[in-house]
Amino acid sequence: MAETWEARIAPEQVEAYRRDGFTWFPRVTTDEELEWLRGVYDRLFAERCGEEYGHYFDLGGPRGHDGAAVLPQILGPENHVPALRDTLYFRNALRIASVLLGVPDDRIQGGGHMILKPAHYGRETPWHQDEAYWPPETIPTSLSVWLPLDEATVESGCMQFIPGSHTSPVVPHRHIDDDPTVHGLVTDGVDARAAVACPLPAGGATVHHCRTLHYAGPNTSEHPRRAYILVMNGPAVPAERPDARPWLDEERVALGSAG
Ligand code: NI
Repeated sequence: MAETWEARIAPEQVEAYRRDGFTWFPRVTTDEELEWLRGVYDRLFAERCGEEYGHYFDLGGPRGHDGAAVLPQILGPENHVPALRDTLYFRNALRIASVLLGVPDDRIQGGGHMILKPAHYGRETPWHQDEAYWPPETIPTSLSVWLPLDEATVESGCMQFIPGSHTSPVVPHRHIDDDPTVHGLVTDGVDARAAVACPLPAGGATVHHCRTLHYAGPNTSEHPRRAYILVMNGPAVPAERPDARPWLDEERVALGSAG
């Protein structure tokens, strides 16, 4: 792997992030590193890495079901492969987060997850805000960097965003299929006509604020859509009046009674 390679962060990208709640970068890593990342990624999914700890599960199906995973996800792959923290991708994501969040990089904690959308996968990742997954007691200073390891097109399920939605509070969400044992969340009533799709070359990245409404379509292409996402968290502040997020309680109850 190359020792250093810095993604360029242009003033227009900072401006777009502040105004729209998202921006994108044509490159956040090198071809050489991308090839290494693909190998690690495929191995982790083949091994169903961390399944015994709940780090590998199907985002699109009920927890613990034993059929083929439709939308497999791996949480915290860096805990299994520590070299992932030492990549150009990780370092560039940290630099980008530091600039966009306005927080020194030594006050940012980063962690990843990998979502594999198989070829001809017929379901979308429905509209949601990432913050809806998190407890309401703190207000995060957080963004996600979304790196596709394969070209991401509208047909393969690239990211789509609602510009300006990061300025709204967390809106009501529910579990996909109204099944609280499905981890994935959806919010209703998004006007998709306002959506901006962000196709990307492999090795590029979108960056979005934790409140930005986003969506990814089904993968109708004949290639898997491999994505490696890094969530970068600056210091959170306590919420004075935490909002109700009943969907989180429903999931806790459903998994508790199932387990
Ligand atoms: Ni998301």
